[in-house]
Amino acid sequence: MKFSAPLKSDSIKVMLLGSGELGKEVIIEAQRLGIETIAVDSYNNAPAQLVASKSYTINMKNKDEILDVIRREKPDFILPEVEAINIDALFTAEEEGFHIIPNADAVNKTMNRKNIREFAAVDLNIPTSKYEFVSTYEALEKSANNIGFPCVIKPVMSSSGHGQSIAKSAEDLPNSWELAKEARGDASELIVEEFIKFDYEITLLTARNENQTVFCEPIGHIQQDGDYIFSWQPMNMSEIAKEKSKQIAKKITDGLGGRGIFGVELFVKGDEVYFSEVSPRPHDTGMVTMITQSQSEFALHIRAVLGLPLNFIDYGAGASAAYKAKNDTFNPLINIKDEVFTDTSYIRVFGKPQSHEGRRMAVALSFDKNSSEKALEQAKKLIQNFSD
Ligand SMILES: Nc1ncnc2c1ncn2[C@@H]1O[C@H](COP(=O)(O)OP(=O)(O)OP(=O)(O)O)[C@@H](O)[C@H]1O
Ligand SMILES: [Mg+2]
Repeated sequence: MKFSAPLKSDSIKVMLLGSGELGKEVIIEAQRLGIETIAVDSYNNAPAQLVASKSYTINMKNKDEILDVIRREKPDFILPEVEAINIDALFTAEEEGFHIIPNADAVNKTMNRKNIREFAAVDLNIPTSKYEFVSTYEALEKSANNIGFPCVIKPVMSSSGHGQSIAKSAEDLPNSWELAKEARGDASELIVEEFIKFDYEITLLTARNENQTVFCEPIGHIQQDGDYIFSWQPMNMSEIAKEKSKQIAKKITDGLGGRGIFGVELFVKGDEVYFSEVSPRPHDTGMVTMITQSQSEFALHIRAVLGLPLNFIDYGAGASAAYKAKNDTFNPLINIKDEVFTDTSYIRVFGKPQSHEGRRMAVALSFDKNSSEKALEQAKKLIQNFSD
């Protein structure tokens, strides 16, 4: 294929809708290939905006505003990087001939728990936790009893654990109901899920285009309050569980179709694997691939988008620890002690222009040639030396 330069008549143009820390890495990979990058978000100086050829700040929920930047810039590829986005704009843009990554229907399915769960469990017959959808409190009580306690209750549209809770008994249901209803996003309907007492959970990064599907080594992770805090790669799994995971990932990504990388979230209990959800874009737990693979999840994403070969090699094991701010400020200062900068550590400060309590501001990555346990231990130590 032919490569140009940004801001030329023959530029290849990539537009990112959502410009966070994952988008920033996607843009850096695109820039390395001379691609023109346009970063769009709902606030100024978002991480990816500061490294892009151009940027726009718009209301991402507004159909006309999204369509306006798309029609004006005429990007070759549009990469939705966040779930909070006006989906009608993507369908319209696709009808007008724009190339949405992976495609508007996949973005629509994955942003709504009901769509993706029914697609996986009913259409594709993939194993999941038991689930029911409810829209009234009475229905919630009924479903929770059907499914049994503990059960997990989530708004159909939400991310990063917002509005999500575990009900241990019927007494917890009023609280779960309130929590879900107060969350941003669409809580008009809730999903009630069987609580899976998994041994561990993984993200199976899967990159695909018309020619190829590749899997990264499984990434283990730990979630706290609905957000990941530690991840490591490879996760040591039984061959059977690993094979099942790949089969599920292949089925769901083929089902969604299109080009790009997907983060397939799976729960593993013994040799049983349950599909949980999937991101049609790079995954936060996958930042570790920046140091473990010859092509990171971000590089693979760009290669997949361009229809290029997706082969890569593994360098070794690695782990990541997320740093979350403790303070609310418009002038964030992350204190990272000098001893964090070792021969096997890699630090990424996202450069977010504002911090608030719990906002992810940086990540510590740690490499170990052979052992993800050692890498994880190291990452946990590194993050102790961050503060704000
Ligand atoms: N049915 C379940 N059984 C056990 N644990 C669950 C279940 N559903 C969710 N969890 C736990 O909660 C975490 C977050 O759930 P989920 O991925 O559905 O929500 P999310 O808001 O989309 O999170 P994120 O945006 O961080 O991926 C999971 O990674 C898992 O640790
Ligand atoms: Mg998730």
